Amino acid sequence: MSMSVVTDYDRKRLKMFNNAYEEGVRILSQALDLDEKFSTPDKKKDALKLYNKAIEEFQKGLRCVPKAVPVGHGQELEKKVAAMRTHISGAQDRYRVIYNLVYPRQETSTTTSAKKTGLAALWASQAEQEILGCIVDSTSVNLSDIVGNDAAKQALDESVILPALNPSLFTGLRAPVKGILLFGPPGNGKTMLAKAVANEAHCTFFNISAATIMSKWVGEGEKMMRELFKTATSKQPSIIFIDEVDSMLCSRGEDENGASRRVKTEFLLQFDGVSSNPDDRVLVLGATNRPFDLDDGVLRRFPRRIFIDLPSAKAREKAIIKNFELSKTNLRLSSSQLQMIADKTNGYSFSDLTALCKEAAMGPIRGLSRTQVQRASEKNIRPIQYEDLVKAMEVVKPSSSQANQQKLLDFARDFAQRRKVLNSNWLSRGPSIGRVVFAECVQCLFIDKRKSTITPVVLWLS
Ligand SMILES: Nc1ncnc2c1ncn2[C@@H]1O[C@H](COP(=O)(O)OP(=O)(O)OP(=O)(O)O)[C@@H](O)[C@H]1O
Ligand SMILES: [Mg+2]
Repeated sequence: MSMSVVTDYDRKRLKMFNNAYEEGVRILSQALDLDEKFSTPDKKKDALKLYNKAIEEFQKGLRCVPKAVPVGHGQELEKKVAAMRTHISGAQDRYRVIYNLVYPRQETSTTTSAKKTGLAALWASQAEQEILGCIVDSTSVNLSDIVGNDAAKQALDESVILPALNPSLFTGLRAPVKGILLFGPPGNGKTMLAKAVANEAHCTFFNISAATIMSKWVGEGEKMMRELFKTATSKQPSIIFIDEVDSMLCSRGEDENGASRRVKTEFLLQFDGVSSNPDDRVLVLGATNRPFDLDDGVLRRFPRRIFIDLPSAKAREKAIIKNFELSKTNLRLSSSQLQMIADKTNGYSFSDLTALCKEAAMGPIRGLSRTQVQRASEKNIRPIQYEDLVKAMEVVKPSSSQANQQKLLDFARDFAQRRKVLNSNWLSRGPSIGRVVFAECVQCLFIDKRKSTITPVVLWLS
C-alpha cells in the first residue's frame, strides 16, 4: 500500500470499496443459503442471479481500491482485496456448475437426468475430497524424538495410545476424553507432538487448519465442518488435529462475520455429537499459542488442557546436544560449559535453540578465507566450542515475549490441568514394563508393551 498523502478522493473510494465488500458478502451469503437449502431449478436459477450480482459487487469494489489509506487501514484493505478475489473465483466456479445443471446441453441430458441427487452429491463429494485430502498417512516423528514435555506425552499416551491397545479397559470412568488442547509459546513441540501421536496411535489423522475449513467460500465452512466430523466418525478411531485453533474458534467479537460464527456453532454441535456417543472414538486435538482468545464454549469442549511450556534447563541441555548429534556436527563442550549454556538460554524455546545451534555452527566457517572454504571438508573444520554458542546468543534471542509468556502462565494457572509425572520411565518403548504414577492419582497402570497388556493397580498414596 502506498505511503502517500491520503486525499478526500481516497477516503471516498475507501468508503465505496468497503460498501461494495459488505454488499458482496451479503449477497454471496444469500446465494449460498439458497443454493444449499433448495434443489429445485427455480431456486437454483435465483441462486445463479445472486452469484452473478455478488461477483459484480466484488468487481465494483476492486475498481475502487484507493491509492492511499489512513494509517492502520492498510492491512485490513489488503485482506479484503484478497478475500474479494477468492470470492469472485469461488462464485464463478459455482455459477458454472449450477448453470450446467440447470441449463443442460442436449447431448448431456442422460447425465443430468439424475441431477436432483447429482447436484447435492457433486458438492458433497467436493467437500469430502477436501477433507480426505487432510488425512495424514504417516509421519516420521516419534514421541521419543520430542525432548521434555513428559506430562503432555503422558496425557496423549493415556488418551489415545493406550485406549487403542485395549479399548475394553477404557470405558465408563476411564473413557478417554474427546478433546485435548495443547497450548504454549511458539516453537516448543505442539505440532510435533500431534504428529508423533498420529504416527504411533495408528488412528486416522486429520490435519486441519482454519484455511481448510473456512475454505475459499463464505458460508462453506459449516458444511466442511459437518463433513469433517462425518468422515472422522466413519474412519474411526480417528484424531482431528486443529492447528492454530484460535484462528478458527476465537471468542465471538462484534466484528465477527456470520460465516465464522456459523462455523463455530457447527463445531460445537458436531463435537457434542461425537462426545455424546461413548462408542465413537474420535479425539479432537487442538493446538494454539493464544488459548485466552478461545471462545468459552470451545474451551469447555477441551476438558484436558496441557501447557507445553518453554524447556527447562535440563531439557535445553538435551536439545542442544540433540541438535548437534542429529546433524552430525562436531561439538566440543565440557559438561560444565553445557550447563552454563543451558543457564544462559533461559527463556529460549526449542526452535530458538535450533536456530542458536545453526548460528553457532557457522562459527568455525567464519574464521576461514574463501580459498580455505573452497578446499575444506567437514573433517578438517574445527569443532564448535563454547565461545561459538555464546557469540550466537548475541544474534539469536528468545522469540517469546515476556508479556505473552505471563499471559500463558496465567491461563495455565487458571485453566490447565496440573498433573505431575512423578515417574516417567513408562515412556521407554522397549519390552520392559513401564509404570506411571501420578501425583494426585491412586491408580497405577502397569504396561507391558511387548505383550500389549495393561494392568491397572490401585496404590494408596499416603
Ligand atoms: N520438544 C521438542 N523436542 C525437540 N525438538 C523440538 C521440540 N519442540 C520444538 N522442537 C523443534 O522446533 C520446531 C518447531 O516445533 P513445533 O512446530 O512443534 O512448535 P509449535 O509449538 O507447534 O509452534 P507454533 O506455536 O509456532 O506452531 C520443530 O520442528 C523441532 O525442530
Ligand atoms: Mg504449531
